[in-house]
Amino acid sequence: MFRKAIHEMAPYVPGEQPRPGRRLIKLNTNENPYPPSPQVRRAVARAARGQALRLYPAPQADDFITAAARRYGLSRRMILAGNGSDELLAMLFRATLGPGDRVAWATPTYSLYGTLAAVQEARVIAPPLGSNFELPLEELVRARARLTIVCNPNSPSGALTPRHILARLARLLDGRLLAVDEAYADFAEETALGLVRRLPNVLVLRSLSKSYSLAGMRLGLCFAHPEIIEQLGKVKDSYNLSRLAIAAGAAALEDSAWMLRNVERVKRTRAAATRRLLKMGFAVPPSSANFVLARMPGRDLGPLAAGLRRRGVLVRHFRAWPDALRISIGTPADMAALFKALAPLAAPLTTSRRNGPVRS
Ligand SMILES: Cc1ncc(COP(=O)(O)O)c(C=O)c1O
Repeated sequence: MFRKAIHEMAPYVPGEQPRPGRRLIKLNTNENPYPPSPQVRRAVARAARGQALRLYPAPQADDFITAAARRYGLSRRMILAGNGSDELLAMLFRATLGPGDRVAWATPTYSLYGTLAAVQEARVIAPPLGSNFELPLEELVRARARLTIVCNPNSPSGALTPRHILARLARLLDGRLLAVDEAYADFAEETALGLVRRLPNVLVLRSLSKSYSLAGMRLGLCFAHPEIIEQLGKVKDSYNLSRLAIAAGAAALEDSAWMLRNVERVKRTRAAATRRLLKMGFAVPPSSANFVLARMPGRDLGPLAAGLRRRGVLVRHFRAWPDALRISIGTPADMAALFKALAPLAAPLTTSRRNGPVRS
């Protein structure tokens, strides 16, 4: 019934979403621990009033796009709205890649890219990041891929590639498309958004799931040259954002001061969590996102993640990267609960590390 490629591919595995009512501290999917702006709730209630939901929403999510144009200082023709940035990624892959076409990114990174490439039957070229998470620029250029993606800040490392390196990569790609996935950019020191004005082969993706606390509403934005936006629009579902999502997105962007305050709180908690993890003996690369990566090179931290879950705390453990845990930044109280659960579980690991070689 299905294409061979679909039969053979593995499905994308999202982080665990507990059943409503389960009292787990969720530090596994990088949601924001603080609520969205109160303006959002009011806008959603207004959008649901009277007869509104009987009618289809605006196909181009007009109010959301107008608010984005104002917030980011770009023309409306350079912006496309998505039902989460995941939908924009799916549109990008669908519009640019056919069977055998090359797509490139540095690993490890957001694993959805691999799933989307498998659906398109594209050929993946995935050189490893450097030991300090630096981008393997030469390999990415040599791949001559139709589409190159850089997740920046990267997940799961949290590392940030400076904008000038991305600009260099875009020029070296010589007209081929460079997509910068900036789902976490509001937590970082800089962004590549300005490049879309200067470089016609650069596309930037943003999500409102993380910094704007709207993961449940499914809102993403794509910024690029109008020609790219026009082509991507051809593979868009006609009404990809609901009336409620459009209203929520516009209200959230119009109250960005609320988002920025929450981002500052998350960044303060991130600094404290990093210090604490380092003290416990984990290796923690500096993070520019709303999560940190805690590593114990050579150890499988799967049992540690399972132990934390039994104690009511969810963190992310990737089978492909067993010696690391990705921990989303929660409220200070969430992090206190994490460290209370983590201390007795991690102590034997760090002690055995100090006392001699460890078998992985
Ligand atoms: C790197 C990256 N890009 C995109 C997304 C998807 O975000 P959205 O919720 O907007 O679909 C995620 C979500 O975790 C992510 O980590």
